[in-house]
Amino acid sequence: MNIAQIEKNFNAYVQGFPLEEMIQLKIHHTKRVVADAREVMRREGFSESLFAMGAAAAWLHDVGRFPQLTKYHTFSDGKSVNHALLSCAEILRMGWLDDETPEVRSVVLKAIEYHNFRDLPPNLPEEEAAIVHIVRDADKLDIFTVLEQAIATDYLPSHPEVYFGLPFTGPLSRAVTTAIERGESIDYREIRSFADFILIQVAWCNGGLHFPASCALTLERNCLQIRQDYLCSILPESEHEKVRLCCAIAEEALKRKAGYGN
Ligand SMILES: [Fe+2]
Repeated sequence: MNIAQIEKNFNAYVQGFPLEEMIQLKIHHTKRVVADAREVMRREGFSESLFAMGAAAAWLHDVGRFPQLTKYHTFSDGKSVNHALLSCAEILRMGWLDDETPEVRSVVLKAIEYHNFRDLPPNLPEEEAAIVHIVRDADKLDIFTVLEQAIATDYLPSHPEVYFGLPFTGPLSRAVTTAIERGESIDYREIRSFADFILIQVAWCNGGLHFPASCALTLERNCLQIRQDYLCSILPESEHEKVRLCCAIAEEALKRKAGYGN
């Protein structure tokens, strides 16, 4: 695969959209997802051909976001269209994978189609699973970064729309802390406060990342400590112990999966 050409195609494609903030946001998101995907694949020792497919899927996974925003003025798939399928449709329409073998084309398109599934179909072929997990892990790593930027710039108190208008200093919900203790993902319907919203990401650390290298990167970037410190700085003292416990459980899970201490 010619990744330099894929990158060129992406850059030329996004030029066709208005230079507004939300478009820029998705351009930066894509570039960071590519960088994280490359780093995880490098650490995981991906073969050259698998690495190329992973990089292509990372560049192209969200191209549907641009026409989605332009046409429907939202990033909500529920209120518009499935952006992953729209990405696939755009890639096919532009013929960006036409020179690839049908096998390569299929792996890249499937990974893009599956990148926003809540649960992946069982028994995915090995290469398809590797590439979709690369995109999903890199996507999560970038969402970590975006939240950390929002914390650093004190963006969140005045932007409740980011966390569905939930109370900023509300307590942690029992269902959410229980899910973390059990190593389960969080049911979004149980989210009642900003702290619960943050714990969604803590739960990703607690079994939601696929590759050991993704877990190692998350640890190196201090993701859990940043969330713990932030929540303790905004929540009443009575919540601190629960926050610390959830972060400690997730940290242990990350270390185990990253292979620390083996
Ligand atoms: Fe996406």
